Formats: sequence, C-alpha cells, structure tokens
Amino acid sequence: MTAAMTDPSGYRRAEIVVDLDAIRDNVERLRALAGVPVMVVVKADGYGHGLVPSARAARAGGATWLGVADRGEALALRAAGDTGRILAWLAVPGEDFTDLVAADVDVAVYSVAQLDEITAAARAVGRPARVHLKVDTGLSRGGASREDWADLVAAARKAESAGEIAAVGVWSHFAASDEPEHPANESQETAFREAIALAEEAGLAIEVRHLANSAGALLRPSARFDLVRFGIASYGLSPAPDVVTPTDLGIVPAMTVRAHAALAKDIAAGDGVSYGHLYVADRARHVALVPLGYADGIPRHASGTAFVEVGGERGEVLGRICMDQFVVAAPESVQAGDEVVLFGTGAHGEPTAQDWAEWCGTISYEIVTRMGGLAGRAERRWTGDELR
Ligand SMILES: Cc1ncc(COP(=O)(O)O)c(C=O)c1O
Repeated sequence: MTAAMTDPSGYRRAEIVVDLDAIRDNVERLRALAGVPVMVVVKADGYGHGLVPSARAARAGGATWLGVADRGEALALRAAGDTGRILAWLAVPGEDFTDLVAADVDVAVYSVAQLDEITAAARAVGRPARVHLKVDTGLSRGGASREDWADLVAAARKAESAGEIAAVGVWSHFAASDEPEHPANESQETAFREAIALAEEAGLAIEVRHLANSAGALLRPSARFDLVRFGIASYGLSPAPDVVTPTDLGIVPAMTVRAHAALAKDIAAGDGVSYGHLYVADRARHVALVPLGYADGIPRHASGTAFVEVGGERGEVLGRICMDQFVVAAPESVQAGDEVVLFGTGAHGEPTAQDWAEWCGTISYEIVTRMGGLAGRAERRWTGDELR
C-alpha cells in the first residue's frame, strides 16, 4: 500500500505543511530570550508560511507588534481581524497612505518628501499618523542618510506640533548581524544611538527605538533597545547558521515540504538523467520522480546538489530540476506514490531548509519564502487549527 493511500491528510501530489504551534512556541521562546517586546515579521506571506495564519500564531506567542513591508500586507492583516500594532515599512512615491492611517497602521518614514505624503493622508483622514522615522546607520538601504537625519527630525517635529503625526518610533536595520564580529554592528549601533539623541534633543518623545532583527536580537544584547524584530527565527530557522543552530536556540522549523513520487523505476548504467544529462548513471539505479519543480519554488540551483528523504534514506537529486518535476535516487523498495520529504524539522532524519540553503548556495529565508511558487500547485495547509 502506498503512502498516498494511508496518509491522513489525503494529499495526492505535494504539500507544504506549516506547524502553527511551532511558530507560536518559537515566538514565546524568542520573547523570553530577548527580554523585551517583540515584533514578528510576517512580510512576504509570512516568509512563505502564510500571512494571516503566521500572524495569528505570532500573536498567540505574545508578539506585541507585526512587521510587514507592503501596504497590502498590513491591510490584509486588518481585514483578517488583527487589531494589534502593525508597522508597514516600504512605500514608493505616490502610494496612498490614507487607508493605512485610517486602519491604524504605523508607517515608516524615510524622507521629508515621504513625510509630506503621510501628513497629507493624515489631514485627509482627520487623525494623526503614527510614524517610525528610519535612519540609515550603515546598510545603505532604506532610511534617511545621516546628513538628512536632522532635516527629517525637524520636519517630524513640525508635523507633530501641527497634530498631523505622532513620531512614535526611531529605527534602523543591521547589515551584518549574522556575523557578530563584523565591525558594522558596532558602528551601526553607535550611529543609532546618535540618531536617537538628536531626535530626543529636538523634542520628539519616542515610544519605541528598534534596531535588531533575529540575529541582532539574539547575538547582540546591547542592540535590543525597546523592541526587537524577529523574522526568520520565528519560523524556527537560525538567523546565523554559522553561529547557532535552532536546537541551540530552542526553536523548531515550522515548514515541512513533501510529495508523493509520481513514478519509480530502474535506470541502467550509462543512462543520462533529466535535461542536458547533467547526471549520467555510473551504475544501475532505482529512481523516483518528484512532482515539484522550479515553478513550485524548488531552486534550479538544487540540480545535482540537494537531497531528499525517500524510503527512509537520503536520496540525491539526480540531474537538473525541471519546471514541474525532478528525479531522485531512491532505495529499491520505493514505489510510485511513496512519500518523499524535501525538508522538515530534521528530527526524523529529513533534511532542513537550512540544508537546502547550503546545497543551493543561498539562505534558508529564500528556500522557505519561495515554496509554493507562482504556480501554487502544492497544497499548503496549516496544523494547529485553533490558530488559523
Ligand atoms: C527591516 C527589517 N526588519 C527585520 C527583519 C527581520 O529579519 P530576520 O528575518 O533576519 O529576523 C527584516 C527582514 O528582512 C527587515 O527587512
């Protein structure tokens, strides 16, 4: 009897299973480690784990804040009934802030021009916008440069006096917090302290000062300030795999990806496998066909480098990952319909998203976030039903 016929979830092809209890417990654990209030970052569809379910699990774990990049993500959380504090941090000129202000979403501000757009929205809505002034302390990405910081602070002070905004936050983002010895950490923290001092001297009463992402929060206690922003660690993956493992941190990966073999068969020595015959069998082999490909988020860089768990063993990816399928080595006993686990918690011998990241020359963030892919053919389901 095949695994497909016995599996209680009834999935036929492939599925992405997200353990919401794990996310909730990870957040609880991270909160205890950090010792300050926590923002859980649920942008990019909760790093592929589902925006709303991840947010609910994060709130259940004690997240005071949720963080998103895009306005649509913030509004989707509100539409789903989330009433807590949310920060949305990435907008382009011309984007409408009125619905964010009306929905009581905190917004980031990077420039005086953007502040003007936000104050216009606040006037239109008839209530002050809550803003977090972002200073670029050395990432050279979003935020006001140090030269522009004084002007942004002065404009915020003026807008606050006019009742158009409440400047509740000053914040920044690390460039290399996953490398604790990197000199940028110290210089960014120093620059952040200087930026806060300038804002306070200008008369802004800041409620939350926040700098640290997962690695910063866990590896650099001095960077915790009033709030830390946990993304990847909430989903149970290490933000600094060269330094700490999930087990060290007491967190558990929340995503498992598995599929049923579409076919199993023998190939002969000398047979080439998949496009370009990147792999040519050096001996007779038993192989299984996995019904997932790069359209489903499997990196093509996994061609010939990654492994799955099949038939109780590690089976290597043979040849190229195709759009919809790839071939793996499998034990003789494996039949069509048997289960293939791409990655999971690692507790049962299966690979983890971190393993796939290393095999593909990327980071675990990218592995989990791209799962599901644009085609959306793998079913995604959530366990921990009360959190959905
Ligand atoms: C501004 C900001 N803060 C926090 C995070 C969370 O980072 P991490 O997933 O490393 O915890 C991100 C994610 O990229 C981010 O862009």
